[in-house]
Amino acid sequence: MQGTSVRWRLAWIFPLGGLLFTSGCGVIGGKIASTSDPAGDQARHIWNLFVVPVWWLTVAVFLLVTVWMLLNIIRFRRKPGDTRIPPQVHGNTRLEIAWTLIPAIILALIAIPSTRLIFELNRDPGQESNALRVEVIGHQWWWEFRYPEYGIVTAGDLHVVVDRPVVLTITSQDVIHSFWPPRLAGKVDAIPGRHNTMVFTPEETGVFYGQCAELCGAQHAHMQFRVVVETQEDFDAWVAKHQRPVPQPAAGTLAAQGKELFEGSAGCAGCHSVDPRYDPTTTPINKTLMIGPNLAYFPERHTLAAFLPNTPENLHQWIANTEQVKPYSTMAEKWWKIRAQQNMLLTDDQVNAIVAYLESLR
Ligand code: CUA
Repeated sequence: MQGTSVRWRLAWIFPLGGLLFTSGCGVIGGKIASTSDPAGDQARHIWNLFVVPVWWLTVAVFLLVTVWMLLNIIRFRRKPGDTRIPPQVHGNTRLEIAWTLIPAIILALIAIPSTRLIFELNRDPGQESNALRVEVIGHQWWWEFRYPEYGIVTAGDLHVVVDRPVVLTITSQDVIHSFWPPRLAGKVDAIPGRHNTMVFTPEETGVFYGQCAELCGAQHAHMQFRVVVETQEDFDAWVAKHQRPVPQPAAGTLAAQGKELFEGSAGCAGCHSVDPRYDPTTTPINKTLMIGPNLAYFPERHTLAAFLPNTPENLHQWIANTEQVKPYSTMAEKWWKIRAQQNMLLTDDQVNAIVAYLESLR
């Protein structure tokens, strides 16, 4: 009696746990990451596959099994005073064939359309499709995006065009990552030495959340990105801006002091460039441009350090307390910690100047 009531009292954990689990998948860091609200053709195909056949098949199996089980529980319940032992069955060939075949058929019904879709999804649409081609490079723990056609590089925000196919060539500079923009497409692994392809067509404009989906180290959860889906006009303006000479702060301003620090004693320029232009003929996808993310037109980015909202306050925090904001990151280990040991951490005024400089890159 006691055992049963405890079991019933604990039963609520399962639906509640399930609810927490699924809601956690929907919203990450306050950003919608739901695959059930597709905004790109690939995500839509995957969602449709999930609904038919996977969802309805599993609902049918669940209902059949539950109803059959309940019927039998009620029908074969022990009656009061009945002390007989039920017939002991050892092996039944017909039953065993049935419960091997039925799941095999169900799995095949799911596997055939799934496999077909996997091959269909990542097919390169070819040159004549006017696809936008971008190289995606995973780093511990941020994403780099190169546009070889335009000779520009950026990080954190992937700019693409609405209703225009995108062909991503995905690789990694260090360990295995996985590129995942849930509302636009599925997941594709970023593997060092390999070039995987992801093809999708964004179907609405907006800013879409993206996340590394392969455990890649201490800051895996903070390896996010955004996909900025914009009109062809806005995209052209974005490209044109990046092809112009880098903006320079006016002499005598705080930003100008920041530039001097950035390029000089603060050591930022050792890892970061503020010039987005590069030569794709001499720098193939497997050749590193810079250790740190390119910072051109930094104020336009949606995130900094690959997860924080891009505000001047967060930027200040990040430069002043890198080790607390993102422990084990390259900047924490190879810059902040070393300067801390040498008692060379930047003063508040120096950090303010660098923040002013980066904010001036508009
Ligand atoms: Cu990169 Cu997880």
